[in-house]
Amino acid sequence: MALSDFLAELDALAADAQSAFSIAADADALEAARVEFLGAKAGRLKTLQKGMGQVDKADKPTAGKRFNEVKKLVEAAFADAQQRATSGREDASEALDLTLPGRPVRVGRLHPITQTIGAMKDIMGRLGFTAVEGPEIEDDWHNFEALNIPLSHPARDPLDNFYLGEAASAAAPLLLRSQTSTVQIRVMENTPPPVRIISLGRVYRPDTADATHYPMFHQIEGLLIDRGVTMADLKSVLRLFCQSYFGGDDDQADVEEVHVRFRPSFFPFTEPSVEVDMNWHGGWMEMGGAGMVDPQVLRAVGYDPEEVTGFAFGLGVERICMRQHGITDIRDLYQNDVRFLSQF
Ligand code: FA5
Repeated sequence: MALSDFLAELDALAADAQSAFSIAADADALEAARVEFLGAKAGRLKTLQKGMGQVDKADKPTAGKRFNEVKKLVEAAFADAQQRATSGREDASEALDLTLPGRPVRVGRLHPITQTIGAMKDIMGRLGFTAVEGPEIEDDWHNFEALNIPLSHPARDPLDNFYLGEAASAAAPLLLRSQTSTVQIRVMENTPPPVRIISLGRVYRPDTADATHYPMFHQIEGLLIDRGVTMADLKSVLRLFCQSYFGGDDDQADVEEVHVRFRPSFFPFTEPSVEVDMNWHGGWMEMGGAGMVDPQVLRAVGYDPEEVTGFAFGLGVERICMRQHGITDIRDLYQNDVRFLSQF
């Protein structure tokens, strides 16, 4: 055999072996390729080695040297492929270890105040009250004037309100509403009686934050205007509301442990006015204010106080939520510590 033919066959063998090893998809295919090229009895390398005997004697050193080079090359290609197959198997088995525990997915929860608001809307909805919204930036008329709070009243003090810009001294000041009673006016201005609404939302006062006060908090406002509405209706509605919220709807024993009491008070927009306290599993808690809508307010929105009467109440949502969950500091609700909030 001519030297050039022998060397050409060696080169072809090297190329074939390298490609066969690199495309072997699994251990069986790799073993089949090993036998084909490196098999001790009938492998292509072995067969070619036998063919070297037919090369001219003078060319034998060159042929032998090249043969050894190709043999090493093919063996190295096989070793590489073998290592790739083993480490690939390890990677794959790591990625698919079905015995590993799953990674827990953090499930979000509604903020406790959002939950409380939802429950309140639900209960008052069943008592026939429709939820309405009002703006958080209010004008002087809705926050004060129409609510029978005259210019000289201390409730308008700039130290007790968040006026916007220089608005405190302006003719028509704007402010962050300090109570949801503003919504009473907005509804009555646009709706002829009878009216039966609640409004739930944020209110703002420059109170120093402590365990029971925060500069931003929520109120639930209720308003019922109709013919012949009395304080007895107010107390019935508030008692039903508290009993449903704290006692649950079905458990009569629990319901009877919820009590509501009125203490005489004063608000410019109700007459008579009361503070509303509630007792459930422990001492009395102040929830908010209430009373019969002052005839002056009814007149301001164009109602006839000789025709209709009504009651209104405004309760602190945070206080109710805190009592329900045994939360002792209102600030915990607004520090956004997920470890705290995720308990509810
Ligand atoms: C009012 O805001 C009246 N608008 C309530 C009202 C409505 C009376 C309708 C009559 C008719 P008061 O200022 O008392 O009332 O506030 C009501 C409740 O809001 C308080 O009892 C308390 O539960 C809550 N509250 C007041 N200030 C704060 C505060 N800084 N942080 C958290 N809750 C507060």
